[in-house]
Amino acid sequence: MRLKLVTVVGARPQFIKAAAVSRAIRGTPAAAIDEVLVHTGQHYDANMSEVFFAELDIPAPKYDLKIAGGTHGAMTGRMLETIEAVLLDEAPDRVLVYGDTNSTLAGALAAAKQHIPVAHVEAGLRSFNRRMPEEINRLIADQLSSLLFCPTETAVLNLAAEGITSGVHNYGDVMLDAAMHYRERAARASRVLDDLGLRGKPFILATCHRAENTDDAEALAGIVRALTDIARTWPVVLTLHPRTRKLIDQHGLGGGLAGVTVVAPLPFLDMVALEQAARVIVTDSGGVQKEAFFYGVPCVTMRNETEWVETVALGRNVLAGASTAAIVDAVERAASELPAPIEARPYGDGDAATRIVQRLADLG
Ligand code: UD1
Repeated sequence: MRLKLVTVVGARPQFIKAAAVSRAIRGTPAAAIDEVLVHTGQHYDANMSEVFFAELDIPAPKYDLKIAGGTHGAMTGRMLETIEAVLLDEAPDRVLVYGDTNSTLAGALAAAKQHIPVAHVEAGLRSFNRRMPEEINRLIADQLSSLLFCPTETAVLNLAAEGITSGVHNYGDVMLDAAMHYRERAARASRVLDDLGLRGKPFILATCHRAENTDDAEALAGIVRALTDIARTWPVVLTLHPRTRKLIDQHGLGGGLAGVTVVAPLPFLDMVALEQAARVIVTDSGGVQKEAFFYGVPCVTMRNETEWVETVALGRNVLAGASTAAIVDAVERAASELPAPIEARPYGDGDAATRIVQRLADLG
């Protein structure tokens, strides 16, 4: 029996994960699964959305809901209502959601209310910090899911601690599939290192967008100071999420980024090319922490906790919070040592998407 699947995505990291799974779906024998793609519109700038669909060969969404902005409640509420209407029309066998964004929460909730089984890719991650909107989204999405695809053993244990043990599978992290699939293409196709004059040169790559850093003027000022300090020693490239750009202006911090090369959000292949070539990556993104790990690049995370604890335990990631001194110190240390190779494979073997799709197909 063919399985009809509605996939809900909306934000940049979900496009990358969905690309890996959609490719595996297209590779299943006689297309055992019909996938209907719904894009909530949470990320709408061309360089946060369209470019990812084009570059990652993701099929065009059947539904483009164009719901973005507003408060978390307003955004999630509008998504809930609209996704519900889509699900009533499509009557899928299953709904697939990714990660921890407001789009994840709305997709899971709309499906669960219609008794449509929910499959959650990247289940079981926890920061244990409920001030993060993502933590609330994950907790609810996991409660509502009947299939929980965990990227790590830690995630399996987190779910077990909450009493969730049925339907839980650790097939590895689909982000590793994507990293392995696109790394060579990025090295071949991207011109970003030449465009930025960085080919063959050591540099620091930075990203910043988490609410806890951008919405807090003091934290954001601390990060801006740290990047400016580091830029006195190393070239620093900061790819700026629209949220951060707005808040830097709002807090009057724009002048503070002297010496830092600030670029707009990059297409995925350019980002991968920069990540692979960077001496150190400084970030508050979950996905970027892991990509640093996959490419063997030391990472400094501008948060006090991480869901990707394996990267820290294996000595590849340092938690520095938003303190200027801690960030600068951690980057200097990381830049001065060559990281030793790591044998452990906490994120699986790069075949998570195929195994997820096989499991979905088996359940028909
Ligand atoms: C969201 C996710 C976060 C994820 C991140 C990846 C939630 C709660 N957070 O955060 O988990 O790591 O995406 O990027 O869902 N904006 C634009 N153009 C865009 C997208 C957003 O200008 O293309 C603006 C919005 O109008 C808003 C701000 O950026 O003012 C934040 O966007 P939002 O989608 O709320 O959350 P993110 O910070 O991107």
